[in-house]
Amino acid sequence: MDVAALGMLHYPDPRLRRVAKPVEDFGPWLDALITRMFEIMRDHKGVGLAAPQVGVDLRLFVMNATGEAVDDRVYLNPKLDQRSGWAEAEEGCLSLPGINVQVRRSVKCRLVAQDRNGKPIEAISSGFVSRIWQHEIDHLDGVMIIDKMAPSEAIAVRKVLRSLEADFDDRK
Ligand code: NI
Repeated sequence: MDVAALGMLHYPDPRLRRVAKPVEDFGPWLDALITRMFEIMRDHKGVGLAAPQVGVDLRLFVMNATGEAVDDRVYLNPKLDQRSGWAEAEEGCLSLPGINVQVRRSVKCRLVAQDRNGKPIEAISSGFVSRIWQHEIDHLDGVMIIDKMAPSEAIAVRKVLRSLEADFDDRK
């Protein structure tokens, strides 16, 4: 994989809509991909980035909820359970520039995943961190925030979506 060539995909790129495949090869190639994903996430001032957003059809995401290097996290083959509570909050997405919508998510959940070496890891979190997990894992299933917004918001973002669709058509 030529990681230097990877870049951010925007809606309506169909690669954002695939159900990504499990990571099964934990070889050294992963280091380059993960490093590049953190780079792209930081370049775009994001707090999370899922592999499908850079055209890589694999179940992994990187995140950093604070901006401090010590808080870099990478999760492979992640799953969520033990969800509790509901909360709505505004979210944006690096693949949907110019769009911010209210999204209803579980307040608290447990993340079960593998680390970069395939070792099982788990964590429990609530609030902002748990929201990032849910947003990024949605990407691994081809789901985006525009699928989850209220109908009233659909009208407000329609124009931006049309313009992203036009940009995409122009690049084809
Ligand atoms: Ni996103």
